[in-house]
Amino acid sequence: MNVPALEVRDLKITYPARRGRGPARAVDGVNLRVEQGEIVALIGESGCGKSTLARALVGLVKPTSGQVLYQGTPLNYSAKALKKYRRHTQLVLQDPGGALNPRQNVFDAVAEGPRLHGLTDRLNETVRTSLTRAGLRPPEEFTARFPHEMSGGQQQRVVIAGALALDPSVIVADEPVASLDASVRGEILKLILSLRDDLGLSALVVSHDLGLAWNIADRVAVMYLGRIVEMGTVEEVLLRPRHPYTRALLSVLPDSAKDWRPTLLAGEPPDPTAIPSGCRFHPRCGNWAALSGPDREAAGCDRRDLPILSGDPSALTLTACHLVPGEHV
Ligand SMILES: Nc1ncnc2c1ncn2[C@@H]1O[C@H](COP(=O)(O)OP(=O)(O)OP(=O)(O)O)[C@@H](O)[C@H]1O
Ligand code: SF4
Ligand SMILES: [Mg+2]
Repeated sequence: MNVPALEVRDLKITYPARRGRGPARAVDGVNLRVEQGEIVALIGESGCGKSTLARALVGLVKPTSGQVLYQGTPLNYSAKALKKYRRHTQLVLQDPGGALNPRQNVFDAVAEGPRLHGLTDRLNETVRTSLTRAGLRPPEEFTARFPHEMSGGQQQRVVIAGALALDPSVIVADEPVASLDASVRGEILKLILSLRDDLGLSALVVSHDLGLAWNIADRVAVMYLGRIVEMGTVEEVLLRPRHPYTRALLSVLPDSAKDWRPTLLAGEPPDPTAIPSGCRFHPRCGNWAALSGPDREAAGCDRRDLPILSGDPSALTLTACHLVPGEHV
């Protein structure tokens, strides 16, 4: 079997207690693989730990426990090894305006990474090729521009060109289209797809919008309060969602169905400093709330823990729910 481009094994990241609040278990046991040339969408609501996981994948956060592996080798967290690693795995953030220096023109923005890594031979060519691959054509038209002279979509393309200039094999994109107008979101997603198709890049794309996965991903991982609760191929997860949380997320996406009835999630928004016992979703789960008597007792969602999903990409779906038959680990 091929070695995954990126993998996390039993990853946990706990932020220390602060301001009278206990430690935050932002990532609380995650197994996930991104295969070579695969796009995985990581979906979940605000605060569920997506960015923490994304930052761990690129080596910006050191795990509390567990491992991040690149091409089958665990990350080495020495400064020198990390610098080398960051060439291969590039992070693209949500807000290109924030990522770009307003006083740096496009050429210098794209050249920054190669200069940092001492890759200055044929720098002009690298910049031109990267801009072209990012869809800024002809590149000469953009090199002298400053961020304020471009649209949000063009700025995000510059950020992506900067990532491509280091010839990475994996892109980790944290909400790459969240700050963009709806009209250009599709173009940036198409660009990420084309990088996969033309350059064989792998990608993890973070979003709070499950609908986005449909447009871009091969597989989807749905995250809730530090854990992945459902994972599988896009078709399985989006067309046949099994976990009540995935179903709730999907139900709020407007579609053309006449009997569209969104499921509003009950209860408090998730708090990683106070993770509920048993199934961590149980205080908000409609399926659990609907159970009574012996069925409720047998399900025991408020006291029975769920195992951590294995992350096996060959499984059509993996679901962390006591009431869903099939694979749990
Ligand atoms: N440096 C930090 N110190 C303490 N807690 C943190 C820190 N960074 C994040 N957290 C907490 O960890 C949890 C996960 O945060 P994270 O940013 O990974 O979530 P997210 O899923 O990316 O959310 P969003 O969709 O809002 O970007 C949140 O509850 C957040 O408050
Ligand atoms: S285990 Fe129980 S509470 Fe958790 S998602 Fe399944 S039905 Fe809901
Ligand atoms: Mg985030």
